[in-house]
Amino acid sequence: MSSPSELIFFVNGKKVVEKNADPEEVLLSFLRRKVGLTGTKYGCGGGGCGACTVMVSTYDRNQRTVVHYTVIACLQPIVTLHGAAVVTVEGIGSTKTKLHPVQERIAKAHGSQCGFCTPGMVMSMYTLLRNKPQPTMEDIREALGGNLCRCTGYRPIIDGFKTFCESEQSSGCCQNGRAGGECCLENGAKGSKTNNSKESDISQELFPMDCFLPLDPSQDLIFPPELMIMEKKVSGDALYFQGERVNLVAPFKLSHLLELKAEHPSAPLIVGNTTIGPKMLLKGVYHPLVIYAGRISELKAVTWGETGLTVGAACSLSTLQKEVEKVVVETEEEKTRGYRALLQTLRCLAGKQIRNMATVGGNILSANPKYDLSSVLAALDCTLHVISKDGMRSIPLDEKLFADFGKTVLRPEEVLLSIDIPYTKPWEFVAAYRQAQRREFAFSFLNAGMKVAIKEGTDVVESLSIYYGGVGPTLVKPKLTCQQLVSRSWGEDLLSEGCRLLKEDVDVSPSIHGGRAEFRKTLAISFFFKFYMQVVLEMRERGVSDADFPLEYLSALKPFKNEVPQGQQSFQLVSEAQPSADLVGRPSMHQSAFQQATGEAKYYDDLPLVQGELFIFMVTSTRAHAKIINIDPSEALKMPGMVTFVSAGDVPGANCRLWFNNPEELFAEEEVVCVGQIIGAVVAESREQARRAAKEVHVTYHDLQPVFFTIEDAIRHESYFEPKRKVERGDVDEALKTAEHILEDEIYMGGQEHFYMETQGVIAVPKGEHEEMDLFVATQHAAFTQELVGMALGVDSNKITCHVKRLGGGFGGKVMKIASLSAITAVAAHKTGRAVRCCLERGDDMLITSGRHPFLGKYKVGYNNDGTIVAADITYYSNGGSTLDESAFIMDKAVLHMDNGYKIPNLRGRGVVCKTYLPSYTAFRGFGGPQGLMVMESVLHEVAVRCGLPAEKVRDINMYREEQSYTHHKQPFNPTDMVRCWDECLERANYQDRLRAVQLFNSSNRWKKRGISAVPQKFGVGFSKGFCNQGAALVNIYKDGSVLVTHGGTEMGQGINTKAIQIASRVLKVPVSSIFTKETCTGNVPNAAPSAASFGTDAVGMAVKDACEKLMRRLQPLMEKNPQNTWKQWVNEAFFQKTSLSATGFFMGPPTDVDWEKGEGQAYYYFTFGACCSEVEIDCLTGDHKNIRTDIVMDVGKSINPALDIGQVEGGFVQGVGLYTIEELQFSPDGVLMTRGPSQYKVPALCDVPAELNVHLLANAENPHAIYLSKGIGEPPVFFGSTIFFAIKAAIAAARTERGLGDAFPLSSPATAEKIRMACQDEFTKMASPPTDGAMAPWCLDV
Ligand SMILES: Cc1cc2nc3c(=O)[nH]c(=O)nc-3n(C[C@H](O)[C@H](O)[C@H](O)COP(=O)(O)OP(=O)(O)OC[C@H]3O[C@@H](n4cnc5c(N)ncnc54)[C@H](O)[C@@H]3O)c2cc1C
Ligand code: FES
Ligand code: FES
Repeated sequence: MSSPSELIFFVNGKKVVEKNADPEEVLLSFLRRKVGLTGTKYGCGGGGCGACTVMVSTYDRNQRTVVHYTVIACLQPIVTLHGAAVVTVEGIGSTKTKLHPVQERIAKAHGSQCGFCTPGMVMSMYTLLRNKPQPTMEDIREALGGNLCRCTGYRPIIDGFKTFCESEQSSGCCQNGRAGGECCLENGAKGSKTNNSKESDISQELFPMDCFLPLDPSQDLIFPPELMIMEKKVSGDALYFQGERVNLVAPFKLSHLLELKAEHPSAPLIVGNTTIGPKMLLKGVYHPLVIYAGRISELKAVTWGETGLTVGAACSLSTLQKEVEKVVVETEEEKTRGYRALLQTLRCLAGKQIRNMATVGGNILSANPKYDLSSVLAALDCTLHVISKDGMRSIPLDEKLFADFGKTVLRPEEVLLSIDIPYTKPWEFVAAYRQAQRREFAFSFLNAGMKVAIKEGTDVVESLSIYYGGVGPTLVKPKLTCQQLVSRSWGEDLLSEGCRLLKEDVDVSPSIHGGRAEFRKTLAISFFFKFYMQVVLEMRERGVSDADFPLEYLSALKPFKNEVPQGQQSFQLVSEAQPSADLVGRPSMHQSAFQQATGEAKYYDDLPLVQGELFIFMVTSTRAHAKIINIDPSEALKMPGMVTFVSAGDVPGANCRLWFNNPEELFAEEEVVCVGQIIGAVVAESREQARRAAKEVHVTYHDLQPVFFTIEDAIRHESYFEPKRKVERGDVDEALKTAEHILEDEIYMGGQEHFYMETQGVIAVPKGEHEEMDLFVATQHAAFTQELVGMALGVDSNKITCHVKRLGGGFGGKVMKIASLSAITAVAAHKTGRAVRCCLERGDDMLITSGRHPFLGKYKVGYNNDGTIVAADITYYSNGGSTLDESAFIMDKAVLHMDNGYKIPNLRGRGVVCKTYLPSYTAFRGFGGPQGLMVMESVLHEVAVRCGLPAEKVRDINMYREEQSYTHHKQPFNPTDMVRCWDECLERANYQDRLRAVQLFNSSNRWKKRGISAVPQKFGVGFSKGFCNQGAALVNIYKDGSVLVTHGGTEMGQGINTKAIQIASRVLKVPVSSIFTKETCTGNVPNAAPSAASFGTDAVGMAVKDACEKLMRRLQPLMEKNPQNTWKQWVNEAFFQKTSLSATGFFMGPPTDVDWEKGEGQAYYYFTFGACCSEVEIDCLTGDHKNIRTDIVMDVGKSINPALDIGQVEGGFVQGVGLYTIEELQFSPDGVLMTRGPSQYKVPALCDVPAELNVHLLANAENPHAIYLSKGIGEPPVFFGSTIFFAIKAAIAAARTERGLGDAFPLSSPATAEKIRMACQDEFTKMASPPTDGAMAPWCLDV
């Protein structure tokens, strides 16, 4: 290795020179830790979330121009940036200088809630504008496809960004229109007929469109001239980089690359680093030498010849996409059929940032059957040009290229130079297919490329190529099928013979990695069927085929179009009499939105290193149930940078987390009860050192029995937590005897991962005296964290201070486990006497902290022919995991919500929490409500199906209607506003007409079906444990008149600080600009309740109001004495009169409680109501579905801030869409969580948001129980995602009915593509069913 090269690149216009750049250092850690630019966020470390998006600009020597593109900083090694200019969110604008319009617009459009995804979103949009100042909506959709947001539901982000589209600015129309070509503005803006308010007091303007900064390209950083000169003068020398463990060579010349490959055949060649990077960074794969091939111009060449395109192996997928997009526009259709198919694949492959980095050669040679290119390129008869020191050879891209998973037949010293992708010939027909968990930005379960050559002027097959990725470890060609169909006419006989042959030819092993064998095989045959129809159609156009298929089959050929979500949001304006300075009731921007959009907002891991700071990494159990025989950290302790190992013996106080008398160990001491349980932790000088050392801690176990993971198994073992719950109204047993029909069934609902964008973590800083410790922590419950840390250290709470600036999302997941993690980190800080930082990696966060409980609801229902439910007996089983955590309270909420909006006169609910050997399930937005409600709605749905009635009718006739109604736990309430929401929702959604349209659609489409579904909702707000319903605040007025508001709530995107400021501003009558909220701090407001139960604003708002009113009472005499004075003068006067300008406020909430002996009580403070209606379309052949439209009417009382409340509704709904349709956690039969990152676990992306999403806040609704007549809103909207589930179920039923199958069938939640496809039973699913009932261990468990 030659001496190390100097790495030169620019960051935000500043030159960076690294003399000892480490090849293992990626841009994200470099920016965050070395440059101190913390605006770029860590969300996953594997390219799957987009939080770390930055723009890279390079000078392209061939095109002689500067090119700008987004990259994923967490996968971009800095050493590959020589000569590049990096721009981060801090480089485009700031609150101190000038905001960039992108930053301003996302903030003003309310597109930033917790703000953790915001810098990534901003950079994706900014880069788009650098390349195209007036983008189309499709451009925006494409640019943001690789950025996840867990809070907003995406719509407000799009609304902010679409203001850059010229068409949007001129027409003010959404451009999407409604079904039937109606403009979206033609309806709702003018209010609804059902809306009892005056039309004029309903607004749709959440932000003014006319006060944005103009896009000013002169504000942009220029490409550094120095880099341009450097690139023009490039010497042709290789670059050498030497790291602590890894060396990297970046040759400039092809000949040098070949020499290097000959010398070091086992050194991997990287370009985009999107395959090798995740392996090295996340899986610990180690390569001492890596060769970077991104500087070799021959590998980047793109040439068009007579026969088609030759693309260099190091060309990015975006480059390929751009080339192909150009040619399909410019060249005749018959030559570009193959390119069109390729384009279809490229457009939904990964996200834009990954496509910018990932290369064509890397995609093929990674030899991963989940990767999409090989199947389509093989079908297109592509040729690979491979080169080594010994010369060049050309090999066909076909199944023989792949030797095994991850292995090709290329010799180790060979390099792929380029790929020929030929034009299609006139009589060749091509298609590409893929089906994934999510339509975009997800690896495919199965991908396929198919090409048939027909003898000119006939319908006879000349040759046929079919390739599948995803049916085995390598690319598969069903040879028999391809051979035997040659010379046959492309007609029905060929179709049935083809399907029969594929059935034999495509052997999907039941033990295939990733499971879903039957689904994959079904897809393989279904794709062929689609291909058959497509070719028939094209041949009929040429008049050479008399094969036919019914018109109703046609829609099967149209893939779903991803659209940009649009819609209306309406809310009631405040009265005209309200002073304009009073912002209560007006849509006000999130207090920190600008800081979030500029990257200035600080999250715990953005805080600078504390002097001498260490890093902690957890060591977790690999066994589900075992005795710990020995923990041996000796090897780890020898590792570089290692400082110490901590475990139970190091805890000076109590090694436990105590929660309502339920202890849970911080460190497992003698026995482990789940995989992922924390046993110990390594503490090292750096994160990387800690991560590596943790792997060297060796734990010896003795496995114990029993061990089981599922609810069903827990029931078999009678393994339950106490208490069990029961609530009963009426006499269920008697009523069941009188019912005309009885239905006994069950529904299973899987769990959910919080997937807050910011992973859990804390920095513990010992203060060096009196055992004081400060914790900077991402917790929703600072007081509990403080208490637990004190207990673990054996120190009083008054010496422990928790600071919570903000959370990058919480959703209930940062209440419990974060307290344990904080205590563990504090123990390490105590032991070492140094500050210790804990920042969980995404995989560990998912493994350790767990999520929403899976539920099984078993029910027996008595109903009459008209759909009236006379009795229902439901037993809820939840999987609580290995410890109780909050499971009992969550079950309480499920059982207390089981009646939803229905007056079922005889109703019994039992709740049982199962104890299994899984990580303990915990709180998650909705807290059991979404599960409890889901089971009841399933009952309603199934009764409607059995009665042959529309489900909405059955819901309607069973609904609570009397003004003085009582829940099944005897809590009085008035359902009027729920019924109003329901009626208004159905009317706004135009439900009856659309139901008819759906039926019409279904009768004329065989393979695509639609469904529509609506549900009402009644959701209890507040804690049923009455003592939690309290709030506290501290308000200080300073002599300059400025006001500091502190309260016990935590800001996690919901806007609690913004609302607190609005409230303080109203009471104090000072502008919001004079009021500030800094942080939540246990030193300022003690003993605060968690920010949860949709109760944050209720509690905190009242407390802030109380404190401000106290202050106003003190100031009142001065104001009356000198009414002409200013606020500042009154405040000054008060100071000189020795009047305290600091006040605490307190809110003592209602005495909610449930007497569980009697099963009755005032469980909630009040109820939030709403209704939701959704329409979907499914593809019966693939299981894909598209969310067409959703309408929500929500009663939030008199909203304090309609923009924030609508944000909660949309964000919660989209999280519910994930819960009920795509988010699927997989546990192995050994209880190991396999879905540990965004590559395996899919939360909704932009493509999952309904194309039309309308949210209306119910007008003229007032809630006398809460602050300024408002209502809590955080949790309820999640449940509305179930409308998509029931609409899917209705669509499947339509497909089944048509095939003569029953419309009553089981479907568990989430309704994934696999379940949809397999429930749409047909001849293809039959062909795929395994010959035996299979004694194979399942790939994963429904836990
Ligand atoms: C978040 C994420 C999502 C993704 N989604 C999808 C998806 O939906 N569909 C899909 O198809 N793919 C997807 N991918 C995979 C991605 O397309 C591939 O990782 C990428 O194409 C590999 O190219 P690269 O340049 O980054 O490879 P690298 O990681 O740089 O290298 C990959 C491998 O290819 C070899 N190699 C590369 N070029 C050559 C060459 N010229 N000669 C010899 N060997 C070579 C290397 O030795 C190495 O083994 C995704 C990846 C990520 C990270
Ligand atoms: S952190 Fe880089 S993509 Fe998630
Ligand atoms: S605002 Fe997008 S993740 Fe929170």
